[in-house]
Amino acid sequence: MSNNITDIIRKTDLTVSPLEESNTIPSTWYSEQSVYLFELENLFSSVWQCVGHVKRLEKNGDYFLFNYLDNPLIIIKGNDGKIRAFYNVCQHRGGPLALEDGNVKLLQCKYHGWTYQLDGYLKKAPKFNQMETNLADICLKPVNIDIWEGLIFIALDEAPVKLSDMMNGINKRIAPVDINTLNFYRRIEYNLNCNWKVYIDNYLEGYHLPFVHPGLSKVLETKEYETELSEYYSLQVSPLKEDNIYGKGSAFYYFIFPNIMLNILPGRLQTNLVLPTSRNSSRIIFDYYYENINDDSKIKSIENDIAFSDEVQKEDIFICEKVQSGLESKGYNQGRFSTTEEQGVYHFQSLLKEYYGRYLL
Ligand code: FES
Ligand SMILES: [Fe+2]
Repeated sequence: MSNNITDIIRKTDLTVSPLEESNTIPSTWYSEQSVYLFELENLFSSVWQCVGHVKRLEKNGDYFLFNYLDNPLIIIKGNDGKIRAFYNVCQHRGGPLALEDGNVKLLQCKYHGWTYQLDGYLKKAPKFNQMETNLADICLKPVNIDIWEGLIFIALDEAPVKLSDMMNGINKRIAPVDINTLNFYRRIEYNLNCNWKVYIDNYLEGYHLPFVHPGLSKVLETKEYETELSEYYSLQVSPLKEDNIYGKGSAFYYFIFPNIMLNILPGRLQTNLVLPTSRNSSRIIFDYYYENINDDSKIKSIENDIAFSDEVQKEDIFICEKVQSGLESKGYNQGRFSTTEEQGVYHFQSLLKEYYGRYLL
């Protein structure tokens, strides 16, 4: 089998046809090593990725670590109150500046003890003659950072779209829910034996709900389930049934291209970041945010919500791993979309073709 990326992603497969005539993307895009490497190198290095919340950095000097596709990062609040992101990599010989989340006055490398200010500039290098070696302009390598509604986003290389443009319109649509008022509660990670795009496709349609998630139909008014498409995101929205565990309102399921999900229910936000870990495996990071995390009477309903999400997630993992086997078999190449149920999947795959095309030119 050829490993050349342009043999696997052919120009003709990048054409976007109208939904009713379109095929799904070829199965090799979910399984070939060259596609996985191509996506890491191009797509994932230049898109905004949601890594945490400003409330995790309350005091100056607070920081947390994030390992993004084998790039160790540190997100830190400086003495000026500004939040910055750097590679957690010392500019001497690559040592780590921090090993776990915490609070510091200075960042000190764990290898030979170089210290850095919180704005990234080198402060001291033990046993170096500062004059001779000209260390003054050494700085930790910064990472692009931006904040939307308290959520911290990073991009390793310059992202082609401004974060505020990408998220435009979400706030208004979800009102009166206000993400800014929520507090970080817990992070849960799942490892899956499927390509990251299998999980995204699956997320983007409610077509599978009756078959895969019988429990969800107790919560969602699935007859009124709708999909709305925007430039860089899509929204699946469904009114909540009466007497459900969440109260009155709607469930908003936002997908932000290429791999972020914001699952919004009254008083609760769950973010998902879907990261490729190999050609046929992925890691999904769930962050949970709630309104009242210090109110003991609310903890039971929070824990119920997390347990219910975990049940739904296990159902999705089961089917996604089966789908990966199907895609890797000789029994399948491309399929067709339902025009009423799979607009979100079509929207994602169309954007993916557009982005692939940019990098292949
Ligand atoms: S690698 Fe950091 S001080 Fe040497
Ligand atoms: Fe699902």
